[in-house]
Amino acid sequence: MRHLSADRGGDLHLARLIRSEKEVEGRYEEVWTLVEEDALDQWPAGPGAVVGRDAPRLDGYEKARGEARYTGDIRLPGLLESAVLRSPHARAKVRRIDLSKAAAAPGVFAAVGPGEVWGMDGEVHFESAAVAGVAAETLAQARAALELIEVEWEELEPLLDAAEAVARGSVLQESRRYERGDYERGLAQADAVVEAEYSTQTLNHNPLETHQCVCEWRGDSLDVYVSTQYIWGLRRDLAANLGLPQDKVRVVCEFMGGGFGAKNGVGNYITLAAELARRTHRPVRCALSRREENVVGGNRNATRQRVTAAARTDGTLTALGGEYTCALGWAGWLPPTAGPTQLLYACENVRTVEHGAQLNLPPMAAFRAPGFVEGTWSLECVLDKLAAQLGVDPLELRKRNYAHADPMDGRPFSSKSLMECYRRAGPHWARRHEVRARSDEVWKRGMGIASQIWYGGGGPPSYAWVRLGSDGRANVVTAMQDIGTGTRTAMAMIAAEELGLPLDRVEVQIGDSARGPFASISGGSSTLPSMGPAVRSAAADAARQVVELAAQRFDRPERTLSLRGGSIVCSDGGNWPLADITGLLENGQILGKGSRGPNPTGMRVLTFGLQLAEVAVDVGTGEVRVEKVVAIHDVGRVINPLGARSQIEGGIIQALGHTFSEHRLDDPHTGTVLTKTLDAYKLPTIADVPEIVCDLVDEPDAHLTNLGSKGLGEPPIVPTAAAIANAIRDATGADVTSLPITREEILRALREAEERQRERERVAAGAA
Ligand code: MOS
Repeated sequence: MRHLSADRGGDLHLARLIRSEKEVEGRYEEVWTLVEEDALDQWPAGPGAVVGRDAPRLDGYEKARGEARYTGDIRLPGLLESAVLRSPHARAKVRRIDLSKAAAAPGVFAAVGPGEVWGMDGEVHFESAAVAGVAAETLAQARAALELIEVEWEELEPLLDAAEAVARGSVLQESRRYERGDYERGLAQADAVVEAEYSTQTLNHNPLETHQCVCEWRGDSLDVYVSTQYIWGLRRDLAANLGLPQDKVRVVCEFMGGGFGAKNGVGNYITLAAELARRTHRPVRCALSRREENVVGGNRNATRQRVTAAARTDGTLTALGGEYTCALGWAGWLPPTAGPTQLLYACENVRTVEHGAQLNLPPMAAFRAPGFVEGTWSLECVLDKLAAQLGVDPLELRKRNYAHADPMDGRPFSSKSLMECYRRAGPHWARRHEVRARSDEVWKRGMGIASQIWYGGGGPPSYAWVRLGSDGRANVVTAMQDIGTGTRTAMAMIAAEELGLPLDRVEVQIGDSARGPFASISGGSSTLPSMGPAVRSAAADAARQVVELAAQRFDRPERTLSLRGGSIVCSDGGNWPLADITGLLENGQILGKGSRGPNPTGMRVLTFGLQLAEVAVDVGTGEVRVEKVVAIHDVGRVINPLGARSQIEGGIIQALGHTFSEHRLDDPHTGTVLTKTLDAYKLPTIADVPEIVCDLVDEPDAHLTNLGSKGLGEPPIVPTAAAIANAIRDATGADVTSLPITREEILRALREAEERQRERERVAAGAA
């Protein structure tokens, strides 16, 4: 298919530098971006020949058969293994360290100590900070050598309490304050004000594949095989750390086993492997063990939140407020925890403050919608309490405060189908009385809802090439990574659609900075909306060349020709197999190139959704069973509905872990992590998975480049915990306020609800 704007004429490839807004997980920056004119109209809404139809992963069999090559499968000649000596203390100094015995141990090729590698020094600020590393012939030899390192520690008092840290000014960045309207007046205007405290726990990403790399020097160039969400960012930052030109660093990530935000950048396991490789003239692997992953692999920071919601009797919000304290650990950044309160509803008076405590705990890292997961939990819970107090239907309350434009600055949304999500929720929501009626003495049933808002529009720059050979097959080439979401498959689908080819005639070459152009991060739900338009644009460039050749060969005007079903089709009924043109190429190749166009100026690009949860609560034991989750999301055009459902299911399953079982526990006195294994840190299993119903609005965003697609990696995890908590309240009257929702928390909330009930009865009896 081919949709070129009529007025573009011959200016298809005008290279320009454009200022464009780029956003990743709520952090906005203005970037200069080199783009070529984005001259493609969007495809019509609805399924095309390939796009919009279920496609299994192109690499599914490769992965299932163990043929896909992950970083852990890399076996280079002469490869050495490494092990890292880590601090047993949360805060300490290395007074003296002796590496000599380790360096002389059997099989050992090199040992490095504090100060010899970027990110590894003699002062440690959290448990398991790296202080020394050893490279040896085998992993066992490397680990044995660690035992021979002599260290004299000076232990220092760790700072572990977030509130205390904020009070003492130990913060990673200035507290972030936001206010619009007149918050105090908003409270005064309200008929009901609900104030409550919520908390969330520290969580570990625990991707199936731990952080790992293999580094190999080739002359003055470094090859890095690494599990990463951002090939080009890692290349840039590693080159800077090593003082190398970027083109001297090659980053390879063909397959990876997830990251969830924890693999966005350079870690000292990479700089360590690079240094050990430099010293030994051998390739060196450094791979975190599962235990190391559970301490230094990054985490979702714990929070304490005090939130306020105020409304008039009809449910119109008059004020929203929040004070959020984030326990960030030693490093990281302050995630947008107040984001949902600022953005989700059309409330005139909003006041938020976010604090980012710096503590002697392992550094936080972005984790699937960082900030918004925690902030949505409190906002959507407190709104439900408010709805109950006012006697307004919770769904109705959300509709009544619908934001038709960005509530922060009045900008129009590039697209927003949240109202359609609410409309589609209607029939499910109507079943709540019937669900409640199925309660018995022991098991109480209920239903809850929560809204979702998040970023996910992507941005420039991103580039792709498409190669069409004499066999009429297409090859998409771009140096992006597939974090595990199925990006590779989505890119093939987009190219196939544009070239009018069946999917099995498209290959995708990714994962190597030396073999393809710049590609953006797999983070912030931005991969598809960043990469997809570049791939489509490259495919369109190739398609245009085919059409030009066909016009000459078949003597038809170009505008009458298009590519469809592996053929060149003319509006006069002419139809030629693509091979009639490509077959003439012999060794010639049609090379298309494409880039991601700029984001729409003056518009806010966001994703939206709503989830409904159905639960059963055993009021005797506090056991909760989530029986069903309905997820209704608006992410613009859906490229692969099968892949999209898989993202939604994955997000909800991860959310169930965050809601009920996952919890990194730290020793409150020493700051060491107690949950280092997967039997202590409880990830959900298939037995925890409820019925999940996915419903995607699938309405292309008319303003968002040539695809109209937004990202879906993060949205599904955002509202689940609040929807479940609201369902628990609906079932039992209990207000749960802390994550994870343990049985103790349920029983506490049930007792509190009973006391409230008794108090009401006492008051009523007194009045009578
Ligand atoms: Mo972000 S949590 O890297 O998608």
